[in-house]
Amino acid sequence: MNFKKTIIAGMISLAAGLAMAADLPQVAILATGGTIAGTASSNTQMTGYKAGELAIQTLIDAVPAVKEFADVKGEQIVKISSNNLTDEVLLKLAKRCNELLADPKVSGVVITHGTDTLEETAFFLNLTVKSKKPVVVIGAMRPATAISADGPVNLLNAVKLAVDPKAQNRGVLVALNDQISAGRDVTKTNTTNVATFNSHDLGFLGYIAGGKNYFLRNPAMRHTWQSEFDVSKIESLPRVDILYSHANDDRVLADASVAAGAKGIVHAGSGNGSVHQATEAGLADAVKKGVTVVLSSRTGSGIVCPNFGRYFQEGFIEGRSLNPQKARLLLQLALTKTNDPKEIARMFEEY
Ligand code: SIN
Repeated sequence: MNFKKTIIAGMISLAAGLAMAADLPQVAILATGGTIAGTASSNTQMTGYKAGELAIQTLIDAVPAVKEFADVKGEQIVKISSNNLTDEVLLKLAKRCNELLADPKVSGVVITHGTDTLEETAFFLNLTVKSKKPVVVIGAMRPATAISADGPVNLLNAVKLAVDPKAQNRGVLVALNDQISAGRDVTKTNTTNVATFNSHDLGFLGYIAGGKNYFLRNPAMRHTWQSEFDVSKIESLPRVDILYSHANDDRVLADASVAAGAKGIVHAGSGNGSVHQATEAGLADAVKKGVTVVLSSRTGSGIVCPNFGRYFQEGFIEGRSLNPQKARLLLQLALTKTNDPKEIARMFEEY
């Protein structure tokens, strides 16, 4: 009799749970690895751990509170440390986000990611996801096994953002450490600190406090559904290399890049995108061979704007406010459509 009662009670609570899940908005969590899924041999080990070890369901099960806000479904896309990010993973994520977000039942997508290249994925998706629904990219600076691991709260915050109508139409979001950033602007600024993500002078889009999301500004540049880039039929991206300027620089890496088949080069120059004269000759020759050269800056903030007139004559394009790793992604996408320097310059004005 007691056994029967227990079974009936179990069935009732299962049915109630299913009914509750059916009423909740759906959120897809796409997992790629990173420290958020990392494990170490002790709970005090915060560096030198193994990133990308835990499967997505383990991360979801560690935060039962997410189920109060959304009917979450996890998908393991890859299990990598994000320093090993590839174009293939970027394309896979963009295509999967677009498939999921086209489903009216899905309210938003959360992506769990390593923090090292998180800003690259967030910006790539900002340019290729065709939806106003929230896409929230998160990670963690401490592995899942650490005391005070930051992954669980970041996951909870991300799911709540993914179902928040206020988070719609703001481009791809990055949310760590109770701060909401624009995927376009944000960058990793500290090697180990949990407060590593910020957007320099541009600031956060908003904060998460007392369990609520507070938005304070909107991104000004074209994003997501406003973007002209469509990767639905693209299987690979053109090679674009980054050259980092320094004292005593020369043209060896510019020539090597051309020889390796680069279709574009982003030059991380000093100051306002300045190029060492020895490298400049190499880049000018690269342009003559059909390679698109974009001038970016190694300073970390500001805008690369018209500098020496001869840069324009040599065919170099100003990368505006994108850091070199983001300028590289925009140039890759630009080159899938055109190699007209005027058109590419326009894209650097608009995205
Ligand atoms: C990674 O980027 O996969 C490792 C570092 C991190 O997630 O913080």
